[in-house]
Amino acid sequence: MAEDDPQNDSDEALLDEAHDDIPERFTGDHPISIRGLKNCFGEQTIHEDLDLDVNRGEILGVVGGSGTGKSVLMRSIIGLQIPDDGTIEVFGNDITAAEPDEVIGVRNRWGVLFQGGALFSTLTVGENVQVPLKQYYPELSQKLLNEISRYKVVMTGLPEEAAAKFPNELSGGMRKRAGLARALALDPELLFLDEPTAGLDPIGAAKFDELLRELTDTLGLTVFLITHDLDTLYAICDRVAVLADKHVVAVGTIPELLETEHPWIQEYFNGPRSRAAAATNERQSDAAAEGSGKALDKPQGAQA
Ligand SMILES: Nc1ncnc2c1ncn2[C@@H]1O[C@H](COP(=O)(O)OP(=O)(O)OP(=O)(O)O)[C@@H](O)[C@H]1O
Ligand SMILES: [Mg+2]
Repeated sequence: MAEDDPQNDSDEALLDEAHDDIPERFTGDHPISIRGLKNCFGEQTIHEDLDLDVNRGEILGVVGGSGTGKSVLMRSIIGLQIPDDGTIEVFGNDITAAEPDEVIGVRNRWGVLFQGGALFSTLTVGENVQVPLKQYYPELSQKLLNEISRYKVVMTGLPEEAAAKFPNELSGGMRKRAGLARALALDPELLFLDEPTAGLDPIGAAKFDELLRELTDTLGLTVFLITHDLDTLYAICDRVAVLADKHVVAVGTIPELLETEHPWIQEYFNGPRSRAAAATNERQSDAAAEGSGKALDKPQGAQA
């Protein structure tokens, strides 16, 4: 492309303008801080007295039995579920009290991959990634949108050609990566993932985990990761928050959780599946350390 292309100049001006609008990155300790959260559906109370702090830069695994309210918790944090009580601060802004305009300023600083990871089936992968970009930066040219979306697609380990494909032309694992590419479209500081490896075979799931850990570290993300996948918890989560009895009953590294008496935690982390996941993680860490000739920097939660 010629350097004196007027389109390039206007793209650059637009990008500069967009950069001026970008708030400083959050430097506090807790990008998410929740106090006294209550959520009800009619007579059914899902959350009560729920407190949680998410540390900046961590992958926080969120676990709990089916129906304990993990997805509802995520929806509350991103403002899709108005709580009955309590406060939710994201980047220091109380999103439950904020005016809609203020929430928009916070909303474009996070990316979300919903449970089921629905992509728009009538749009290509690249067009799916462009959806949030068009929403927040409607003035960007199609050329720039194409460039950004191609970059995000490649970043998630998909081949460049995948940008032109429709979701039903991809494997399940590739669709998850495409969903992640869309969640990363706006260069978020915070990433919400609801069961991202559900339905993947163990190898595909492990590769997705590896990608997520790498992106988290290189992009300086904070990740709120809902998962049932014990391998994921051992392999990449720094801490794990356990949802039971309508609130967060414990949060910490897996060894710390094992010290708590809560029956669900004991059953979950001391059960045969958990022990198998711990052993697999131990073996893989040892093999990797041998391969590189040095000890690995494992996430704290992996030191079972
Ligand atoms: N929009 C809604 N209206 C009424 N009830 C709802 C709504 N959304 C969720 N619920 C109820 O809230 C409870 C928690 O649901 P949620 O989807 O958060 O569970 P979960 O922990 O994510 O479960 P899973 O592990 O199966 O995904 C469930 O009993 C569910 O039926
Ligand atoms: Mg759910």
